[in-house]
Amino acid sequence: MSHRAPLPELGAEELRTHVAELLARSRARSLALTDAVDDADLVAQHSPLMSPLVWDLAHVGSQEELWLVRDVGGRAPLRPEIDGLYDAFRHSRASRVDLPLLTPAETHAYLGQVRDKALDALERSPLTGRRLVENGFAFGMIVQHEQQHDETMLATHQLRSGAPVLHAGPPPAAAPIHGPREVLVPAGRFVQGTSTEPWALDNERPAHLVDLPAFVIDTYPVTNGEYAAFIGDGGYDDPRWWTETGWRHRHDAGLAAPRFWERDDDGTWWRRRFGVLEPVPDREPVVHVCFHEAVAYATWAGKRLPTEAEWEKAARHDPSTGRSRRYPWGDADPTPAHANLGQRHLQPAPIGAFPAGASPLGVQQLIGDVWEWCDSGWQPYPGFEAFPYPEYSQVFFGGDYKVLRGGSFGTDPSAIRGTFRNWDHPIRRQIFAGFRCARDPSPLEAAAGTAGER
Ligand code: AVJ
Ligand code: FE
Repeated sequence: MSHRAPLPELGAEELRTHVAELLARSRARSLALTDAVDDADLVAQHSPLMSPLVWDLAHVGSQEELWLVRDVGGRAPLRPEIDGLYDAFRHSRASRVDLPLLTPAETHAYLGQVRDKALDALERSPLTGRRLVENGFAFGMIVQHEQQHDETMLATHQLRSGAPVLHAGPPPAAAPIHGPREVLVPAGRFVQGTSTEPWALDNERPAHLVDLPAFVIDTYPVTNGEYAAFIGDGGYDDPRWWTETGWRHRHDAGLAAPRFWERDDDGTWWRRRFGVLEPVPDREPVVHVCFHEAVAYATWAGKRLPTEAEWEKAARHDPSTGRSRRYPWGDADPTPAHANLGQRHLQPAPIGAFPAGASPLGVQQLIGDVWEWCDSGWQPYPGFEAFPYPEYSQVFFGGDYKVLRGGSFGTDPSAIRGTFRNWDHPIRRQIFAGFRCARDPSPLEAAAGTAGER
């Protein structure tokens, strides 16, 4: 297995500068998401699925205090009495609105105090000598944690009613699609996960070989237009396409279309997106569907969802070298030409918008746009070790969760990579999740080594 270091070694000073910039960027995003609404809105519960925004805001400060101020910095607790309030395991999202939370003003003051001391810890830490700080890991973990909550807050914004308060430019316009709509990934071994990516979280480790039979995977995520055809064909009313659990859920929850969609009298689909009502764009990846809807669509289409290993092989495996890349396009960090990330746009981009982001085999838009449901439960890799705490990944293994890969338009570049693993309940739809399909190749395709001979 090749374990070439994926990143140039940064000197300690360069690493400190890099970390400080990322900390500032995640904080600017948290504040933009929360300054967009007034105090009454910050403390309100917009959905029982979500925390009040002011809880997320104080919680990112609380995690930063725990790891960077107390552990790395070795300082005494700033406000030990609030620890329990911001412990995600102590209070369900639905119940947080009733807690004696810090007010918005108190939260801002607390975040400022924590950040001062975290930056002090950054100055003092040798950033080596101890696994927690090696290559700045604890700082990278906290940057990613804040960015994850920022994406969660973005989902809260999508659930909130009222006039639009967030703004961003439109994604690139839809252009004609050339080239194959499916790609054959040849049989064989590839390296899944990583042992070298410095800020990879515990569940992405260690690197290990996985042997897969050949499979065919879609070049692009499934679009709104394609998904509307499934609805138009009576897909929600035909139990043949649904698993037993999925069919029961479709009835209990009254599913009839992606969340936030509605049909007008002419049969046109509209969607509500961050307070804007607009026609559903055909060429954008479908978003706000649950795992069960994704499986039903794939079955209707004569396909299936990729497994997590298939998704990662399609995204990272370079057949010419046998190496797994950090990203589909190579080892370089994402730029706006590669992927729709970082809330640069408030929606997925049309398929075909990021040819520069293609994988070696030509699979596109794996990173960004929409999280992609995979047909895999949430399980540890062989050799998994919880680090630095079991409550990030380990306690969820084996639960009622499905894996999501690739990040969405709302995921920051610092919080996504080819190895990144996300998970959620198979019924969740408020997250920015869509999917792409896969299938087994026909014998002809397997023999030819290319898709399209079905
Ligand atoms: C990895 C997105 C499932 O938000 O529930 C945030 C990330 N863990 N705080 C989540 C997380 C602790 C987590 N996900
Ligand atoms: Fe958290």
